[in-house]
Amino acid sequence: MGIIGGGPAGLMLSHLLARRGIDSVVVDDRTYTEIEQTVRAGILEADSVRMLVDTGVSDRVLREGDQHAGIELGFDGQLARIDFAGLVGSSVWLYPQTDVFVDLAAARSRDGGDVRFGVSDTIVDDLDAELPVLRFADADGARHEIRCRLLVGADGSRSMCRHRIPEDRRQQSFREYPFAWFGILCEASKSAPELVYSHSERGFALISQRTEAMQRMYFQCDPDTDVDAWSDDRIWAELQARVNVNGLELIEGPITSRTVLRFRSFVCEPMRYGRLLLAGDAAHTVPPTGAKGLNLALADVRVLAESISQFLASGLDRHLDDYSRRALQRVWKAQHFSYWMTSMLHLPVERSSFDLRRQQAELRSVVESRAASAYLAECYTGWPR
Ligand code: PHB
Repeated sequence: MGIIGGGPAGLMLSHLLARRGIDSVVVDDRTYTEIEQTVRAGILEADSVRMLVDTGVSDRVLREGDQHAGIELGFDGQLARIDFAGLVGSSVWLYPQTDVFVDLAAARSRDGGDVRFGVSDTIVDDLDAELPVLRFADADGARHEIRCRLLVGADGSRSMCRHRIPEDRRQQSFREYPFAWFGILCEASKSAPELVYSHSERGFALISQRTEAMQRMYFQCDPDTDVDAWSDDRIWAELQARVNVNGLELIEGPITSRTVLRFRSFVCEPMRYGRLLLAGDAAHTVPPTGAKGLNLALADVRVLAESISQFLASGLDRHLDDYSRRALQRVWKAQHFSYWMTSMLHLPVERSSFDLRRQQAELRSVVESRAASAYLAECYTGWPR
């Protein structure tokens, strides 16, 4: 098996396949350090955590992660809690994606997995042949050509693999959003025990956490925002104005990182062409509001490992189609949820008092209706397998 992409999707797939006795080689053109230093989101669904713990990747998430039994929605000057535990008997974990990557890389290395970071000139070819080919040059320049039973493109949203699928064999669905998130890391203690998703007349803000001493926060901004034009003072004033709700005091501190994250919804269907399968961001991207990106990638590879092992045992292509069909059902539910959370919480660019008041009423409807709150909780904590 050839796996292109050594992020969480590629590494988890390689790990799950190894547990089924299936060998794979994982290549990534980024170095280990580059991946480790990328700041990504931090919410894991209960099933994602279970997958890490039950397959022996690591129980560090249980020791160092924070279990969150709900989120707070801030709007119209008040906070309302969505109680995941009470509504749907589930929870999520705050555990940064970088740590998931580190744990998976350590597990692959412990188990003797073949994972190569820092490769170059990666190309996949002969995708509709019996044995497609993976070519790349190692970090030390040595060239390799490997014939594989299957290839998996887990190479992220700018996927090279996806682009190797003929255009008339893939349907791509897009949605661009006219805004982005300004994301910061800061040295401060926690302002709240759980995540606060705050709607305001100045736009959306999210208060998340990382550790006792380091916090992650975001606010809705224009996609062309220049981060250098924002001093610490200006950022804090903006965040304070946007989480101006009773019962929350936003604790400030030195800002150590600032980036703009663009928003996009994207799906490529099917997630298979010939002997190439796509997984994670290579096949779909969601806006970060629903915290679904990493969870979807892990859900993809859980189904994919099963389908690959059925395919290898039977030789039947239908197991590969099954993967795409099953994975896409969850992908589209997550697309809808991420879109819904995004449109409910972010102010349209041409803001009117109608939009503002209608969104406040939508949020009020969600928090006052047990059915609507339970729907949000169900989607946020993750659908059953
Ligand atoms: C994060 O902590 O980075 C985070 C949390 C929840 C989101 C998005 C990002 O919806």
